[in-house]
Amino acid sequence: MRTAAGRPAYRRCLAPLKPYVPGGTAEDVARHRPARISKMGSNENPLGPGRLAVEAVREAAARISVYPDPSAGLLRDALARGTGKSPGNFLVANGSDEVLVLIAATYLNPGDNAVVSEHTFFNYEFAARVFDGEVRAVPTRGLRCDLAAMRDAVDARTRIVFLCNPNNPTGLHVGAAELEAFLRSLPRETLAVVDEAYAEYADAPDFPDCAALTDRFHNLLVTRTFSKAHGLAGLRIGYAMAQEALIQDLRQVKLPFNVNAAAQAAALAALGDREHLARTLELNRLGKDLLTRALAAKGWEVLPSQGNFLCFRPTVVTALEVGEALFRQGVIVRPLGRFGLEDWIRVTVGTPAQNAHFLEALEGPAGA
Ligand SMILES: Cc1ncc(COP(=O)(O)O)c(C=O)c1O
Repeated sequence: MRTAAGRPAYRRCLAPLKPYVPGGTAEDVARHRPARISKMGSNENPLGPGRLAVEAVREAAARISVYPDPSAGLLRDALARGTGKSPGNFLVANGSDEVLVLIAATYLNPGDNAVVSEHTFFNYEFAARVFDGEVRAVPTRGLRCDLAAMRDAVDARTRIVFLCNPNNPTGLHVGAAELEAFLRSLPRETLAVVDEAYAEYADAPDFPDCAALTDRFHNLLVTRTFSKAHGLAGLRIGYAMAQEALIQDLRQVKLPFNVNAAAQAAALAALGDREHLARTLELNRLGKDLLTRALAAKGWEVLPSQGNFLCFRPTVVTALEVGEALFRQGVIVRPLGRFGLEDWIRVTVGTPAQNAHFLEALEGPAGA
């Protein structure tokens, strides 16, 4: 098929896709020549990678002429040991983003649908649309995922329900009892995907134990990543955790060498680096508390977050104005218009110096 312009036509299902707009980069903000740059728009680990992961990458560099292990066997063994599961319960991928695409590639036929919540991570919709799936975005209730309404949106052609827990960008979470009731209510043929990209940060007593839930629910698949708490976003490595039958399904569409050797080595080292993880979580806890109090003291609404970021709503000035003023002063945050939350901003919890920079910049032209 040819377009009028005489070039290959892409598939019609791609037409509604908006290009992904990543968080601002340090290079973008440098154009304003700020005295400092604080990158707080992409929920990365402000401590950077751990020492053990960096050493592992250095060692792996000597072996990059050799293809990586297609099954990421050592890493899957370590994930199994850490969770009391078996290596067959894991599939490692090029970021958890790749897992989302593999899920859609495995389970969606054209015209099937995927149910998602409003105001959530965009890549569920992306993955579904690329495979010609319909996307049903279910309105939230007071910004929380409305699981009852999501269940009501499921029909005979619903293959996948995506749930982000805690949710990016709000930071709000679904508790264990609610999630379990939801899983019990789903048809056996519908896959429930729970994206736990930020689960390491969650400390709410009722946060679900999804590793245990995957033992009980044959149609539950959990995605996790090394990009956030483990500080390896640039290497691209994440994984799926589920019963073996689901993992075997996904394996059919995985490219053989999807995860590079340096990423596998770094992730393995990061899993063993309890100290770096503990420092990361403590820094996040303290910073989140500090930023929550400071933003609330301005009279701004701040959502209780289980992640490494906060979602807040400025008053008097618009979210876009605040975002732009911060940007000019070297602080990159994420105004949430693209998530359908025009009045809100997401800020990643930073180091003490980054948090101070953000708060100082808010007192300047941004915080009027
Ligand atoms: C909720 C959520 N899921 C998945 C991802 C993608 O993570 P990865 O870097 O593992 O592809 C992100 C990244 O921002 C995210 O926020």
